[in-house]
Amino acid sequence: MTIFSLTEAELRQRRSMKWCTFDADVVPLWVAEMDTAVLPEVRRSLDEALDRGDTGYPYGTDYADAYRASAAARWGLELTPGQVQRGGDVMNAVLCVLEATTKPGDGIVITSPVYPPFWQVTSGYRRHTVPVALTPAGRLDLEALASAFADPEVTAFLLCSPHNPTGTVHTVDELTAVAELCAEHGVQLVVDEIHAWLVDPGTEFVPTLSVPAAQRAAVVTSAGKSWNLAAFKAGLYIVGTEAGGLLRTLPPLAAGSTGHLGAIAHTAALRHGQDWVDQVCVEIAENKRLLADLLHALVPGARYQPQPGTYLAWVDCTALDLDDPCRHFLDVGRVAFSPGRNFSPDHGQWVRINLAASPSMITQAVERMAASLRRP
Ligand SMILES: Cc1ncc(COP(=O)(O)O)c(C=O)c1O
Repeated sequence: MTIFSLTEAELRQRRSMKWCTFDADVVPLWVAEMDTAVLPEVRRSLDEALDRGDTGYPYGTDYADAYRASAAARWGLELTPGQVQRGGDVMNAVLCVLEATTKPGDGIVITSPVYPPFWQVTSGYRRHTVPVALTPAGRLDLEALASAFADPEVTAFLLCSPHNPTGTVHTVDELTAVAELCAEHGVQLVVDEIHAWLVDPGTEFVPTLSVPAAQRAAVVTSAGKSWNLAAFKAGLYIVGTEAGGLLRTLPPLAAGSTGHLGAIAHTAALRHGQDWVDQVCVEIAENKRLLADLLHALVPGARYQPQPGTYLAWVDCTALDLDDPCRHFLDVGRVAFSPGRNFSPDHGQWVRINLAASPSMITQAVERMAASLRRP
């Protein structure tokens, strides 16, 4: 089974953001959509729902139960039914947790560079963003986090695990240290684990709630990234054993905004898609090696150090000496990446490349990068 095998002609029929934002001659390796067909069991579950005319409101705990079963089987993480509750999409769930655990005027720490909506959700709702840079190797800077947490205005830390865009997979020691720092300073730890299933073979993803020190944390997640289900809005809140009361303090609509078909699709993915996502991880790891080799051979000025998490590659183009690498590659090379400046004001010379694509698409993209640099 090869998952990233859809043809370009098939993909260009899509009506989603990835395929429609740019002209048809642009190779799109930007927004985090995957070039995969729908998992057959997801399609079957949706077909059956539509055959029943089952397009009402969601009911029950199937989605939460499917997550608990996946977490137990994959990571040995045992959760009680009371620890998991469904919600709207992941960013909506993040917003609800921050609304419940912080107040207007508070500061919320994020680790920069990070997924752009983290900046929006921490600044757009009468809170303010407190960015703390990752280390140059993309790891959590515990000293810098400690000094940010020491500010009494800081009441929450929104962490991305695994980290988008760098692909960093946080270790048990790092998560323990972060959780201890949060406890010491009375800071609410909120962790977005939407990329949890997407780690290279041989790398261990550490769920936050498997860390004893992190039992006051709130985690938000969904099957949306790993099974390419962004079209189906449905997320989950998961709380540690010492954060049980948190679910009761969420805004009233927090649990009411799950789409019924979303919950059905995500449930089917979690129940039936574990082998499928394993194969995705194998192919993504190969794509990371392919990208590294191609850049080394064709665009040696672009620096890329593959990391084991996510299907995203974070590439430093500083040495290419371009005003705006992302714009240059789009305008001259006709290949679309995500601009680094969207992830951090200090990363205008970086681009994020989406590797959830076929090897031939990735090859074409790097060849276009190289060709764009040869032009006068
Ligand atoms: C870290 C992270 N969180 C959340 C999302 C979006 O999730 P949702 O569509 O469920 O809000 C993404 C999408 O790329 C993401 O990378």
